[in-house]
Amino acid sequence: CGIVGYIGEIDAKEILLKGLEKLEYRGYDSAGIAVLNEDGVMVFKEKGRIADLRGVVDTEVAATIGIGHTRWATHGVPNHENAHPHQSTTKRFTLVHNGVIENYHLMKKAYLSDVEMASETDTEVIVQLIERFSKDGLSTVDALRKTLHLIHGSYALALLDNEDEDTIYVAKNKSPLLVGVGEGFNVVASDAMAMLQVTEQYVELHDQEIVIVRKDSVEIQTLEGTKVERAPYKAELDMSDIEKGTYPHYMLKEIDEQPAVIRKIIQAYQNEQGELEIDPAILKALQDADRLYIIAAGTSYHGGLIGKEYFEKIAGIPVEVHISSEFGYNMPLLSEKPIFMFLTQSGETADSRQVLVKIKKLGYPTITMTNVPGSTLSREADHTLLLHAGPEIAVASTKAYVAQVAVLMVTASVYALAQGKTLDYDAVKELGIVANAVQAIVDSKEEMEEIAKEFLATTRNAFFIGRNVDFYVSQEGALKLKEISYIQAEGFAGGELKHGTIALIEDGTPIIALATQKAVSLNIRGNVKEVVARGANPCIIAMEGHEEEGDRYVLPKVNELFAPLVAVIPLQLISYYAALHRDCDVDKPRNLAKSVTVE
Ligand code: G6P
Repeated sequence: CGIVGYIGEIDAKEILLKGLEKLEYRGYDSAGIAVLNEDGVMVFKEKGRIADLRGVVDTEVAATIGIGHTRWATHGVPNHENAHPHQSTTKRFTLVHNGVIENYHLMKKAYLSDVEMASETDTEVIVQLIERFSKDGLSTVDALRKTLHLIHGSYALALLDNEDEDTIYVAKNKSPLLVGVGEGFNVVASDAMAMLQVTEQYVELHDQEIVIVRKDSVEIQTLEGTKVERAPYKAELDMSDIEKGTYPHYMLKEIDEQPAVIRKIIQAYQNEQGELEIDPAILKALQDADRLYIIAAGTSYHGGLIGKEYFEKIAGIPVEVHISSEFGYNMPLLSEKPIFMFLTQSGETADSRQVLVKIKKLGYPTITMTNVPGSTLSREADHTLLLHAGPEIAVASTKAYVAQVAVLMVTASVYALAQGKTLDYDAVKELGIVANAVQAIVDSKEEMEEIAKEFLATTRNAFFIGRNVDFYVSQEGALKLKEISYIQAEGFAGGELKHGTIALIEDGTPIIALATQKAVSLNIRGNVKEVVARGANPCIIAMEGHEEEGDRYVLPKVNELFAPLVAVIPLQLISYYAALHRDCDVDKPRNLAKSVTVE
């Protein structure tokens, strides 16, 4: 889901469509644009991809102002009617919206009982309310303001008024939105990436702000109407970072970037003496706490599980890892001096943000570990730890996960040293070895392609097993496979499979087993034997040093603590090739969104 807008001197259609293409990576199931000229507003929308939308846009229409949207269905199925933009009954107002309006049923009942709605969406309620208040005599900005005072929930929105060809009205609460500024034009975008083609200068918007965007001006006001001055910043993004180059998919490009990401992290967290370092304020905050709570969703949650291992084993600080959508509504008993770390690639995940908001109200210290500087969770937490992975575009996260694990390792190591502990490894050196090992794995892609073909080309399901940290990596491996190949997959603790799930094993069921930890290497091999005896087809991925004959792939040797950084790489590649061979859309899997900005 994403929003774009353009107001300026040249034709808006192509800029909007290109912008939407840049937002494709976020995941969506329908898209639309609206443009405005002296003949009024024209709306084009379509279920499916931007390529489908291009097919219905009238190329003859010329307009220098417009808005656009990609929609990831929350209220109402993905179809033409529910796609944005939405219009008021008289078609005077046209709106695109991201987010969820919680009280839209109430609003409908209270103000719009006589209005025939064209869609099932909460968004239409907003645009109909604006029309209602404008009919009552309010100016457009006042009608918008009154509407925003009434609705509860999250929104990033852009509004066109048929009677005013010179303005895009914009507002934001909880959902991300930026205004980009140019010479003789201005743009609106959920993500700077969308509009990098036209400008590098962006103005950050805060919650509960309204912006009046014209060709030559950007006027920010609070909901109460107080003007706000805010200087633009330069988006630190490079066009080459967000292009695929010669790669067939972003996911493959991002998998290949992982050695460079690890090296970048070593550099970014090193001081002049070559020692690892983190922001002293973050170190102090961690030292003042008696327990670390890691909060995350999806792949980041799996990164958090490894983080717990690191902080507990290396640094000796107790850690709990929680799924954000659960934590906020079912908070566990907290320790006396907790500190919270939010792991989020995008820094925008609404499930994680709702926890941050609650934790801030309770007054506890917060850190966001994110890949996106300036993202909502980064701005709102007390501290930020950056992942330095560069933009991650493929919906399935790869390099951000590896970056999370590496930065968690760095942080735990720095903390341990600061507590006077001696470490039996040199993290800088070990991470260097890891970068080389990852390089060796990505250089042997053909082997992963073979594994994918042999084990996953036609299967209905697959199991990933591991013990200790390999269990966590198995969960991530299974998630990757599910996300992009739609194969039903589960990551299991090796010893747990026999307590129920082994009933699912049939002749030929693929079992991908990780064996990177010497202490449990024999145990996991025992677990493999249990399933092989029931017909499973085993693929053992072991670490050099304790490999055995018949293992399918041997990982280059690294310090065992660092093994998760290496073991996940073949799993990413296997998933990639499985998806490819099953003709799935690798970068844009069905039903998924890159950053889910709704709870
Ligand atoms: C979405 C994505 C997942 C991602 C999760 C958390 O569901 O599809 O790939 O892991 O959000 O995202 P975050 O940006 O908070 O790490």
